[in-house]
Amino acid sequence: MDILVIGAGGREHAICWSLAKSPKAGTIYCAPGNAGIGELAELVPIQVNEFDKLAAFAEEKRIGLVVVGPDDPLADGIVDVFEAKKIPVFGPRKNAAHIEGSKTFMKDLLKKYNIPTAAYEKFDNYEQALAYLQSRPVPIVIKADGLAAGKGVTVAFTREEAETALKSIMIDKVFGESGSQVVIEEFLEGQEMSILSFVDGETVRPMAAAQDHKQVYDGDKGPNTGGMGTYSPLPHIADSIIEEAIETIIRPTAKAMVAEGRPFRGVLFAGLMIAPDGKPKTIEFNARFGDPETQVVLPRLKSDLLDIFLAAVNGTLDQAEIEWSDEAAVCVVLASGGYPASYPKGLPIRGLDEAGAAGALVFHAGTARGKGGELVTNGGRVLGVVGLGKTIAEARDKAYEAAGSIAFEGKHQRTDIAAKALV
Ligand code: AMP
Ligand code: GLY
Repeated sequence: MDILVIGAGGREHAICWSLAKSPKAGTIYCAPGNAGIGELAELVPIQVNEFDKLAAFAEEKRIGLVVVGPDDPLADGIVDVFEAKKIPVFGPRKNAAHIEGSKTFMKDLLKKYNIPTAAYEKFDNYEQALAYLQSRPVPIVIKADGLAAGKGVTVAFTREEAETALKSIMIDKVFGESGSQVVIEEFLEGQEMSILSFVDGETVRPMAAAQDHKQVYDGDKGPNTGGMGTYSPLPHIADSIIEEAIETIIRPTAKAMVAEGRPFRGVLFAGLMIAPDGKPKTIEFNARFGDPETQVVLPRLKSDLLDIFLAAVNGTLDQAEIEWSDEAAVCVVLASGGYPASYPKGLPIRGLDEAGAAGALVFHAGTARGKGGELVTNGGRVLGVVGLGKTIAEARDKAYEAAGSIAFEGKHQRTDIAAKALV
């Protein structure tokens, strides 16, 4: 069966890599993809927001399954476009992707169905939002309602920071219409964890849990990024807590979406905070695979990813075989100097063969081929280097050893990925 994967990041590289292991996979196409994906898939020069062109391509090639990676096309209804043409597609429809596309929708849904999350108020009026903010203690969290490339959330530790964030969202409109509403919510203390699940309606099949490192510098300092590194499993978090999160948050949310007439089919990604007393609460839901969570979760999948996607599309996800290996995985992101602010592109990358020889998986995020065919940087996050091992310590050593052999000008990586799991 020929497959079309939509997206261009490390997440999509990991998805293509996992699909390529399936005996049922024919040609894998990826639109638009990147240099690394191009080594195992045929790259298609169509952008992720060109829905009609993508659908025409899928029809022409008689694609058996489309898999959508990124949030923006999902929120804009790409799945509905494929479904209207009867092209099998794995991902949530627009009305279900709304759980990521609107934080006010997500918060109201959780409140209505009594699903644990931070207390909040929502506002579409700046003066009222400001008055509320001034009546609350710090720290406090301010969130633009809509998608904001992962930058719409401010955890404010001072009043001044909080007011600046509110003004930039609602008055200066730095995120455009995404900021016409805001959520102001209680600050939650604790450990973060991500649980991604394959979901079809009320059927929820959780994947292995993972932890991301969002800030750009060691010790969780500096601005938030798309994610600087991940690891899975989480040996320092009890299975009972993960189980509680699945039973009290993820399953009830899938059920609530069905009850609301918005059945979710795809990957439902729960961002959770585990309070010091061990109780999990929801921070956010995403309607897609995480990046770079996917890079540590899929290498641990022992079953056939294509079979799982097809089961979800055919309504048999409850019977699908989904097995996880006991191996640990650690992903270290190599980023361009300057990221998450501006950064140069087109810089030559060296040492990938050495990294592969060190036994690591290298997933490309922002890479391209230069004029002479050489590998060059082409994004903020350039590569995700994944080490696998019997323990997190072993996987981490492997990832860092391989990461050390890769070089490009200005390369930046965190040195403390998975450190929390080692204590
Ligand atoms: P999001 O873009 O919703 O993933 O939020 C970005 C990050 O902000 C999260 O990963 C958390 O680290 C932090 N965050 C969001 N909401 C809260 C909250 N209520 N309390 C504490 N931290 C939060
Ligand atoms: N790594 C966080 C995300 O994909 O949203």
